[in-house]
Amino acid sequence: MIRARDVLEAAKMARYAASFLRKRLVHVNLQLLYDCPMRCRICDFWTDRYRDEPALTARQVETISENLARIGPQIVSIGGGEPLLHPQIVDVVRALGSRHFPVMICNGWFVTPAIARAVFSAGAYEVSVSVDYADPRRHDSQRGVEGAHRRALDALNILNQARSGPWQRVHMITVVMDDNLEEIEPLIRLCRSMGITYLVTLYSDSRGSKETRAVPRDVSARLVALKRRHPEFVALRGYLGKFSESVGSGGIGPCFAGRNLCNIDNRGNVALCIDRMDEPVGNILADDPLVIEERLLSKHESNTCRACWTSCRGSIETLMYGGGAPANLLDYYRMTRPVAIA
Ligand SMILES: C[S@@+](CC[C@H](N)C(=O)[O-])C[C@H]1O[C@@H](n2cnc3c(N)ncnc32)[C@H](O)[C@@H]1O
Repeated sequence: MIRARDVLEAAKMARYAASFLRKRLVHVNLQLLYDCPMRCRICDFWTDRYRDEPALTARQVETISENLARIGPQIVSIGGGEPLLHPQIVDVVRALGSRHFPVMICNGWFVTPAIARAVFSAGAYEVSVSVDYADPRRHDSQRGVEGAHRRALDALNILNQARSGPWQRVHMITVVMDDNLEEIEPLIRLCRSMGITYLVTLYSDSRGSKETRAVPRDVSARLVALKRRHPEFVALRGYLGKFSESVGSGGIGPCFAGRNLCNIDNRGNVALCIDRMDEPVGNILADDPLVIEERLLSKHESNTCRACWTSCRGSIETLMYGGGAPANLLDYYRMTRPVAIA
């Protein structure tokens, strides 16, 4: 029997596909809050600079969802800070899920079977848990919290068992740095044993005062070779193929932030990306979304930044503008395809 909900989801997907083909704004990073129990060496959201920043309320997220829908739908990636620290996280996911495609990246610390089931029932399409090293001590040390690795792996198992529909996916995600390339194959093997899939993103030092980390120049060849050997590694091969160019020649340009993706911070301010939050073009809670869209486009046109090759940007640009379209589309299908409930 076809349910009303399935018809609405199909209509939402059709609108998303149309937006994608017209190369419109298809991805939003939403910084829900900055609180986090971890003290990652690669992130500054837990520092004094963000300490007193408020979280968006579920009601504000409802307004954001409504306003974004006028220029959407989008994949809305809920992050921060630690999104599962938000007391109304289930309402937040639901508010986005009615009009968009909510996905979430978390550190796993707060995942329980009840929370995991509620987040998926509220409409999350994908939940990724960050794991930086296969070696628990190295992960815990990077994150500044003992037990972080154990909790992340437990969370992945719990999440995988809590999915309510086959389209809901659970991934492990690793930030590729100068000192963890050797850890990636063991992490992929771990994913295989857990029945989940694996993604990576490239380290970025372009916000705040983060240390430079010299990722090896042959990173692309090594990652693409791993992808060939391991079907669980579902990152797009075209995205991985540009890591070396990014670390070796000062970045990848042009950047399509503002045209195809943007960032919304904890006050509703809209900017090109997470690394340009201090240059907002407007506020999605207060301004006309169509005006915001125009300003984002104009900011994109004058933007010469090439500083990062993180997955939010890299995956979209690979699919929209990269060569080798059929191979990348096949990878995208593998990343998002329905997986039977265990
Ligand atoms: C900022 S965190 C927020 C979500 C959650 N607290 C977590 O740790 O997954 C979102 C993602 O960005 C990654 N990340 C943190 N610092 C980064 C950096 N400097 N460059 C690239 N990715 C980074 C994290 O590892 C995580 O996968």
